[in-house]
Amino acid sequence: MKIVLASRNPKKIGELQTLLAQTLPNVEVLSLDDVGLFGEIEETGETFEENALIKARAAASSGYIGVGDDSGLSVDALGGEPGVYSARFAQIKTGTGAHDDAANNRVLLSLLEGVPEEKRGASFVSAVACVFPDGRSFTVRGEVKGRILTEYRGNSGFGYDPLFYYEPYSKTLAEVTPAEKNAISHRGRAIRAFAERLKAEAGKEFAKK
Ligand code: IMP
Repeated sequence: MKIVLASRNPKKIGELQTLLAQTLPNVEVLSLDDVGLFGEIEETGETFEENALIKARAAASSGYIGVGDDSGLSVDALGGEPGVYSARFAQIKTGTGAHDDAANNRVLLSLLEGVPEEKRGASFVSAVACVFPDGRSFTVRGEVKGRILTEYRGNSGFGYDPLFYYEPYSKTLAEVTPAEKNAISHRGRAIRAFAERLKAEAGKEFAKK
């Protein structure tokens, strides 16, 4: 079975292939480039699920099963922001060209200045959508709860990881190994849920034939 991930990033393709291998050893993950889809996909959704579906639909226009994902940070004290704007948070809040992890983290810290520890709760969220060639679709969601620190800790990971403290590890997600992060992360959880669901759906599909 071939599926197309709405990405051109070889690392993301390889990551999904590896994670799916345990549940679905016969799945081959293709990129948008592999199936000749070269256009940009506009992420115009207001939720992670909507954006994941937009990407999955674009990938499914190849004729194969399409998969899309969208993730970000949701901070309680900010009413769920930065949410679907996580990658562009600094740009949106400051109106400048800044578009990088360091700028995003600075903006996050400044918006949370003076907010006490017990009110600094946050979640990383990841939605994965799957669209079948006949138009049927499903979405799954993975989440991990944590707290936004007042100072950076750790050098691994990316994005908001150095500020995201995960209580059960007593560490930020920038202080853990990739395997430790994957075991509890929003993305790890969403991809595992996706693999289980795809296995069930693909089983039904083959039973029909
Ligand atoms: P994407 O949808 O996976 O590209 O993620 C969008 C943005 O959310 C990233 O640019 C990061 O700012 C943030 N983000 C998503 N996942 C993580 C994570 O695991 N750690 C830190 N930041 C993340």
